[in-house]
Amino acid sequence: MYLNVQKRNIAVFPGTFDPITFGHLDVISRSVKIFDKLIIGIAENSKKKPLFSLEERLSMIEEQIQIMFDRYLCKIEVRIINGLLVDFMQREKVFINVRGLRMSSDFLYEFQMSCINKKLNPQIETIFLPSLEEKQFISSSLVKEVALLGGDVSKFIPKEIVNYLIKKIK
Ligand code: COA
Repeated sequence: MYLNVQKRNIAVFPGTFDPITFGHLDVISRSVKIFDKLIIGIAENSKKKPLFSLEERLSMIEEQIQIMFDRYLCKIEVRIINGLLVDFMQREKVFINVRGLRMSSDFLYEFQMSCINKKLNPQIETIFLPSLEEKQFISSSLVKEVALLGGDVSKFIPKEIVNYLIKKIK
């Protein structure tokens, strides 16, 4: 019984993370305090054309986790999700899906995804963490757009990610 409870307290935080922002990092910092283990799952979103490859995103996130979550390293894993999220979760025996919810405009999309995932695998529960007010407006796409036009994005993404982004854009 105790073992079952332990197993249930693992969550996956899936996303495109192209690139990871302070918004995502806020969700991670709060999730590691709630769950025994957190898997950050880098996935493809068929509607997006990512700037960074899956492997680049994996190494950027791993590096950032080492820098920011030193205390929680043993609780965090970064993985690439190939294919459906629900299949990944079933394979890993993880049934909690964590998503950040920024504002009402996110709600419909997130609600639809959580319903579809539940239909595909009824064991899966999606948990939403509301964004902190000061991080509500952050979006990976807007960060990329601002950087492309030469703007300062250091308020939205960590400095190491800023460097990768500038290098990529060049
Ligand atoms: N604070 C601030 N910003 C946040 C945030 C937070 N707490 N959480 C997310 N964001 C922003 C991100 O920067 C991102 O911005 P963008 O849209 O400009 O890129 C956006 O909100 C959400 O993106 P992200 O969390 O990176 O992922 P996503 O919405 O692209 O993720 C997947 C969707 C990957 C989870 C989904 O496509 C998936 O599960 N794919 C796997 C395949 C699958 O199973 N598909 C069927 C799904 S039903």
